[in-house]
Amino acid sequence: MQTLQTTSLRVVDNKLWILDQQALPQQKNWLPADNTEALVGHIHALRVRGAPLIGLSASLLLALLAEHGMTRDALGQALDVLRAARPTAVNLMNNLDRMKQALTQPDFAAALGAEALRLVQEDRELCERIARAGSELVAPGSRLLTHCNTGGLATAGVGTALGVIARAHEEGKVANVWVDETRPLLQGGRLTAWELGELAVPYQLITDSMAASLMAQGQVDAVWVGADRIAANGDVANKIGTYSLAVLAKFHNVPFYVAAPQTTLDPACPNGAAIPIEQRSAAEVTGVAGSFGAVQWAPEDARVYNPAFDVTPAALISGWVLDSGVVTPEDVANGRFAG
Ligand code: MRU
Repeated sequence: MQTLQTTSLRVVDNKLWILDQQALPQQKNWLPADNTEALVGHIHALRVRGAPLIGLSASLLLALLAEHGMTRDALGQALDVLRAARPTAVNLMNNLDRMKQALTQPDFAAALGAEALRLVQEDRELCERIARAGSELVAPGSRLLTHCNTGGLATAGVGTALGVIARAHEEGKVANVWVDETRPLLQGGRLTAWELGELAVPYQLITDSMAASLMAQGQVDAVWVGADRIAANGDVANKIGTYSLAVLAKFHNVPFYVAAPQTTLDPACPNGAAIPIEQRSAAEVTGVAGSFGAVQWAPEDARVYNPAFDVTPAALISGWVLDSGVVTPEDVANGRFAG
């Protein structure tokens, strides 16, 4: 396969490498992901994360395994293992459906390689279109709030919600970005803060619990988040904490936008209640771990509830900004996501 480089994926000498998103921003470690077990381990540990990136990394790995001579049957099994790596983000399933189709072709190795590269290129273009469409909704002088990480690290392109923010900044419209640290795994504090810093976008990092008082003081003009799955009725699964932001935004009359590529749509999923929500380990809540080591503050035997995502009902969303343009609540009520 040709050499390929995104912010957090690399293909060099027919080998897949990932930028360890758990070590950022203190360390920039590129780790090999040259077999199914290794990539699934990276995905479970969130070294590879972000809905679009998970799907692209799995697709690229399958293509490389095919190029290295793996049989059709073994590739089918690897595909099933990768498909189960993270249950909530539907981009993984959508990308792998296309790879599965390529696997049926007579020259499946060539077909998988071409399809994986197409998915990467398409994702870049989808991000561009989302950024363009979303930026039109950002008024000059905006103070925006975002949650988790939806930037170049999480996609092959400029990102989704963060791509919108970056584009609006280029157009001189962003006064400040409030960055939710995003407990428990701190994607906002570690990754979004780093990406915005690299892009020279003005930002201030806050703990998740500070959003309410900022909105009450009138210091947030709009909330921008990404999505891991959008159901047919417009309900959105995204990083835990998104729903509370949407409730707060509604109460304070602040527009709440979801930015996502079409690979995040799941027309077969009727509503948010049908979206599987990944439950994660207690250790993520009882303490914190990273390139700096691990700290535990809760009692050893503390009982923990740790869903990785929550569901924001469509009724709280002001607009779904897709690569095809802005989808309004009226469009959604008229079945825009239903198939
Ligand atoms: O658990 P993560 O870090 O993979 O969760 C990421 C999110 O919730 C993002 O908002 C979503 O995947 C969109 S990334 C463009």
